[in-house]
Amino acid sequence: MSIVTAQIADYIQTQSWIRRMFEVAAELKAQHGAENVFDFSLGNPDVPPPAEVGLILRDIADIVSAPLALGYCPNAGLPDVRAALADKVSHEQGVALAAQHIIITSGAAGALNTILRATLDRGDQIICFAPYFVEYGFYAANHGGTLKSIRSKPLSFEIDVDALRHAISPNTRAMIINSPNNPTGVVYSQQELDAIANVLREKSHDFGRPILLISDEPYRFLTYDNVFVPPVLSAYEYSIVVNSFSKSLSMAGERIGYIAVNPHMTGVDQLLAGMILANRILGFVNAPILGQRIILNALHSGVDVNIYEKRRQAMADILDNIGLEYTLPKGAFYFFPKAPEGYDDKMFVDVLMTENIIAVPGAGFGYPGYFRLTYCIDKTIIENSKPAWQRAMAKLTK
Ligand SMILES: Cc1ncc(COP(=O)(O)O)c(C=O)c1O
Repeated sequence: MSIVTAQIADYIQTQSWIRRMFEVAAELKAQHGAENVFDFSLGNPDVPPPAEVGLILRDIADIVSAPLALGYCPNAGLPDVRAALADKVSHEQGVALAAQHIIITSGAAGALNTILRATLDRGDQIICFAPYFVEYGFYAANHGGTLKSIRSKPLSFEIDVDALRHAISPNTRAMIINSPNNPTGVVYSQQELDAIANVLREKSHDFGRPILLISDEPYRFLTYDNVFVPPVLSAYEYSIVVNSFSKSLSMAGERIGYIAVNPHMTGVDQLLAGMILANRILGFVNAPILGQRIILNALHSGVDVNIYEKRRQAMADILDNIGLEYTLPKGAFYFFPKAPEGYDDKMFVDVLMTENIIAVPGAGFGYPGYFRLTYCIDKTIIENSKPAWQRAMAKLTK
């Protein structure tokens, strides 16, 4: 008999490869020294937060003795922070939002759970393109829903609009898109976004209830070669933006994110009230207060994206050198290369491990045959990993 639910027991079992990855990485680091292990598995932003963040924290230290400075705040967040975020999102999205259209959350993860808690009925379905951020499936299940994924096109990861149209059913409550994408680095074009919006409109009409479009955008700030991330709120009425400061300010541990709701949506007030309540009853109560104060003052700064750009180049150089197929990421900090001929993703990741290279199999993102590399590690470590990659590739041909 299991002390946890059957579902959680099953997750522990089926997700054991993630645990294994962590354990193996820790073991290898203890054995060989951290500098000799090339850990491309972790998406924990290591680029330092901008200097303003430290200065703001010092200023905050002076005000914490005031009554309630660290007390509970409204469930939707501090009014001045909501107003500042509304301003920022209005500019980004080309739609005028007021403070009331923003809910500050415990990261993008908290935001997604808050939205799904407020909108999913038991048996409802969420759809997304694969490969996808693995947590989406767990979040849907947290609230009685299921996740259905649609394969995007091999290697380019372009969306398949016809497959999307066929995948939507009367149970489809929402679609989640993630651009720039984890794990592929793909950024959807305006054309792709419009195509998604058209299908959702058509199917909402067919099935008699609006399908929400949830745009999970924690990597919006991180694009390369001047690639533009088209705004979702201008493209589709029933849209919700999710964002966070985990990556843009390297504040992943402080758990600050937000929800921005399209003000033109029918039922917007009820949706906002429902999500504010959900944020409370899920036990988040309110987003961390220190984080809210930090972002208020650091809203227009960000980490140095040039650091990620240089790492992307270093990683691409290695992949070119060893002849693996990949699509150059347009945003975020991941590569999602194809496993070499004759190897599936798990087999190949095992080979890499023998050379102290840690990668994550694509099966973990609903897309076997590929694997994910995160460049949240120093450029020198990436460069130093080249001989290990070459040795791993040489093992394949033997
Ligand atoms: C696509 C995507 N969505 C959401 C999250 C969760 O981010 P947060 O730390 O803001 O909860 C992540 C974190 O890696 C992510 O990659």
